[in-house]
Amino acid sequence: MNVYDSDRMTDVLAPLGYAPTQVADDADMVILNTCHIREKASEKVFSELGRLRQLQERAADQQGRRVTIAVAGCVAQAEGAEITRRAPWVDIVVGPQTYHRLPELVGQIDPASRKRVIDTDFPEEVKFDLLPGEHAPRGPAAFLSVQEGCDKFCAFCVVPYTRGAEFSRPAATVIDEARRLVALGTRELTLLGQNVNAYHGEGSGGTVWGLGRLIRELAAIDGLDRIRYTTSHPLDMDDDLIAAHGDVPQLMPYLHLPVQSGSNRILQMMNRRHDRDQYLAVIDRLRSVRPDLAMSGDFIVGFPGETDQDFADTLSLVSAVGYASAYSFKYSPRPGTPAANAEQQIEEAVKSDRLESLQQLLNAQQFAFNKSTEGQIVDILVERAGGRDGQMAGRSPYMQAVNFTGSADQIGNILSCRLSTARQNSMSGEIIDLKGAA
Ligand code: 5AD
Ligand code: SF4
Repeated sequence: MNVYDSDRMTDVLAPLGYAPTQVADDADMVILNTCHIREKASEKVFSELGRLRQLQERAADQQGRRVTIAVAGCVAQAEGAEITRRAPWVDIVVGPQTYHRLPELVGQIDPASRKRVIDTDFPEEVKFDLLPGEHAPRGPAAFLSVQEGCDKFCAFCVVPYTRGAEFSRPAATVIDEARRLVALGTRELTLLGQNVNAYHGEGSGGTVWGLGRLIRELAAIDGLDRIRYTTSHPLDMDDDLIAAHGDVPQLMPYLHLPVQSGSNRILQMMNRRHDRDQYLAVIDRLRSVRPDLAMSGDFIVGFPGETDQDFADTLSLVSAVGYASAYSFKYSPRPGTPAANAEQQIEEAVKSDRLESLQQLLNAQQFAFNKSTEGQIVDILVERAGGRDGQMAGRSPYMQAVNFTGSADQIGNILSCRLSTARQNSMSGEIIDLKGAA
């Protein structure tokens, strides 16, 4: 979502004459768009701000040029005051729900008084209504935010505090944005939300649409060939959404469905509101309509009170599901969340050991999944140049990165590809025809 938000920030600043640059030293303004989900992510912000201070000084000393520095995103939301205290060279602090106001905020900077501009409101107005309709092309595979915030309040998670209450964009505005992206060359959309399958946006004629209905409507857009969504909560996988996995061909056979733990005791302490069997039952239902569905998930090890047995339950859940890919993290106490104050915090060394065992298992599953696709012929959406000369890269329906010999003019095409060799994090493939060439 930060990638999407960053793109929208460039859209909102374009009328002021700002354009993105790949070279920080050329920039007149640097915006750090930040993540607060784990401590590591937020600590990075302060080290990055140290580097930006040097960049700001270099521009002033060598070119007499004033570089504006802004901090956006969830660290800005949660630690605005701390940022201006620890890094007084920051000009603007702006939260995730107010970045549509960036032009005004830029106008308020007064380099002479070094007054900082801080905007971390949760405003009445909806930023999506105020962001420009026009935007730059986003490439063949683009993100589209449809939902933000979260009302689930998992005991470890800062999202309900930094992104705020759950909000769904009206379907018509999502569909308009999707149409514009497709007109600019996008063929795959990933619908985004912190709890995207809690989507309940205004539909047509005063009705409320769930995510399944939204996906069905988006699938009717000519030229939109692939749809994905992330991230979901198991409890919000409703019948219509599950059915969509079976009957909407554009909906890709890959699902990121975090479970966090395989222990019922820990799931309860996490306030996840579902148990292990409910999670497994959702996956069974999904696989009954889409047998080749590739599963992904998120896991936290070392949640306060997690015993060896609880952790063993996580490993056994992983074995039961068989993930094609997954993300796993050591529990990181976040200020203001209930679990941060829990007794029985787990020692760092134990967290590290558990993370290592879990990742060993998940990596083995990922490799086994990749191996199982060797020899298959699948559609690849070509997205970019690959790592080596003459190599291009795209994604399989299962979200695997696929490298193959090709050329830049294939970007944006969906090509038929034989998956040849499995690696840990990617596949090699060979294009077997030029079906779908634009
Ligand atoms: N510590 C570790 N991991 C966390 N996540 C969210 N909060 C924390 C935390 N406090 C993980 C969850 C979530 C993913 C986005 O980040 O697994 O699904
Ligand atoms: Fe955080 Fe996801 Fe739980 Fe919401 S559902 S509180 S975003 S982990």
